Amino acid sequence: MELGSVLWDGQCHADAPVRIPLAMLNRHGLVAGATGTGKTKTLQLIAEQLSANGVPVFLADVKGDVSGISAPGQDSPKVRERAGQVGQTWEAAGFPCEFYALGGIGTGIPLRATVTSFGPVLLSKVLQLNQTQEQSLGLIFHYADSKGLELYDLKDLKAVTGFLVSDAGKPELKGIGGLSSATAGVILRSVTAFEQQGASDFFGEPEFDVTELLRLAPDGRGLVSVLELPAVQDKPQLFSTFLMWLLAELFNGLPEVGDVDRPKLVFFFDEAHLLFSGASKAFLESITQTVRLIRSKGVGVFFVTQTPKDVPADVLGQLGNRVQHALRAFTPDDAKALKATVRTFPKSPYDLESTLTGLGTGEAVITVLSESGAPTPVAATRLRAPQSLMGPVPGEDLDRLVKSSLLYGRYAEPVDRESAFEKLSAEERGREAASVQAALPEGKPEGKKEDKSLAEQVVGSGIFRSLARSVGTQLGREITRSLFGTRRR
Ligand SMILES: Nc1ncnc2c1ncn2[C@@H]1O[C@H](COP(=O)(O)OP(=O)(O)OP(=O)(O)O)[C@@H](O)[C@H]1O
Ligand SMILES: [Mg+2]
Repeated sequence: MELGSVLWDGQCHADAPVRIPLAMLNRHGLVAGATGTGKTKTLQLIAEQLSANGVPVFLADVKGDVSGISAPGQDSPKVRERAGQVGQTWEAAGFPCEFYALGGIGTGIPLRATVTSFGPVLLSKVLQLNQTQEQSLGLIFHYADSKGLELYDLKDLKAVTGFLVSDAGKPELKGIGGLSSATAGVILRSVTAFEQQGASDFFGEPEFDVTELLRLAPDGRGLVSVLELPAVQDKPQLFSTFLMWLLAELFNGLPEVGDVDRPKLVFFFDEAHLLFSGASKAFLESITQTVRLIRSKGVGVFFVTQTPKDVPADVLGQLGNRVQHALRAFTPDDAKALKATVRTFPKSPYDLESTLTGLGTGEAVITVLSESGAPTPVAATRLRAPQSLMGPVPGEDLDRLVKSSLLYGRYAEPVDRESAFEKLSAEERGREAASVQAALPEGKPEGKKEDKSLAEQVVGSGIFRSLARSVGTQLGREITRSLFGTRRR
C-alpha cells in the first residue's frame, strides 16, 4: 500500500516511496496528530487502497467528514500538485460503501446490540459504574443467564434488577451471594437514567451481525462500512464502547487464521482516547487482550487519536504501524506530550522534536513493519491525496444510499421478542390476580402508593411471592461469556 514519499531537507522525493505491506496490516497501527493535521484523510487514503485490494474496511465517522469515501474526489490544482510531488497518478474514484447509524439515530442502517451480548463490562463502562458496581452487574447477568431470563433490551435488565431488589426477589438476591440490595438499587437507577437519555434505541433486536462487515462488493473490492456518528457525538462513552463491542463480536465470531497475506478486515477506531479515558481495570485488560488476539483472526485495528499518550502502553506496544502527524508545542503540556511522543519512536537521523512540530498538513512521520516484521526506519513523509471526496457527501445522497441497501430492510424495524421483561411481568400479573383475592379482607395500609420504591415502579406493584420459585425452576440456557463478558457465540 502506497502512503506517500519521503521528505528530506524540505524536499519531497517522489523516487523514495513509503509503503506498508498488506500482510502487516493485521499488526495494527496508530494514526496520531493535532487537530486539522490530516489524520482523517490518512485513514481515508489507507481505506481506499485496502478496498481496492479486496480488503473490507470499517470506519467510525465521528465528525461526518468520511462519507465522501463513497464518491469520486474533486480534481483541483492542489490535488494535482500533491500528486505530482509524491509520484501519484491521481484519478477520481469512489468506493463501495455501506452506512450505519447507532440505534438508527442519524443517517444509516440502524445498528443495535442486545444487552446480553453487550455484557456487563462494556455496559458498566457506558453507565460509568465503579468496580464494585461493575462486579455486581456481572452477578446480575450471571443470574439472568442461569435462570433463562433473556436480556435483550434495557427493559429486560431493569426488570431483572428490579425483581432482585423487590421483596419477592430477596431470597434470590441472597442466593446470588456478593450482590447487595443497595448496589443493585444503584445499578437500577443508573440503567433507568440511561434509558431516559434515550439509550433504549441502541439496545435490542435485531442485533447487528458483525460478519456483514467482512463482505466484498460484486466487483471484488472490499466493502467500506462507515458508522455515521455525528448524531450521537454528545454520547462519546456510548459510541466508543459500541466500537469496542463490534471488535469483541468480531473476536468472538471469527476463526483463527494465523498470519495471512492480506487482512480479513481493517478496523479504524477514531477518537480512541474516549475509549481509554475513565476505563476500569477489567475493561483495559479486555481491550489489551482483544487487540493482542484479534490479529490471528486476520483483523487489523488502527487507533486514531491526538497523541500516543492517549493509548495505554500495553496497547501502544502492539501497534506496529505508526503514522504521526504534526504536533503543536504551544503550552508546557504540549511540550511534554511532544517529548513523550518522540520517545515512542525508534532512533532516527531526524531531529524528531523539530520535525514533528514542523510537518505540514497531510505530512507525517512514519514507521511501519516491513515484510519480515521488523520496524522500518522513521521517515518524514508527504502523504498521497485520497481519490475519493474529501468531506461529506450531500445528506440526500447518503439517505438514498442507506434506503437502497439490501440490509436496510433487515435492520430498520426494532423487534421485541419475549424476554425477561415479558416473563417477569406475566408472572407478576398472575400473582396480582391471586393476591387481590387473598388480600381482600384486610386491605392495604394508606400511603403505600406514594412510598413505592423505584424497584416497585419498575417491576410493578405486584406481589412476587411465587415468582422466585417459578423462575428458579426454569432451565436457563447457560451463556458462556468471553472477553468483556460479551456473549460467546
Ligand atoms: N493526504 C492529504 N491530501 C490532500 N489534502 C489533505 C491531506 N491530508 C490533509 N489534507 C487537507 O487538510 C485538511 C484537514 O485534514 P483532516 O480533516 O484529515 O485533519 P484531521 O487531523 O482529521 O483533523 P481533526 O482532528 O479536526 O479531525 C483536509 O480537509 C485537506 O484539505
Ligand atoms: Mg479528523
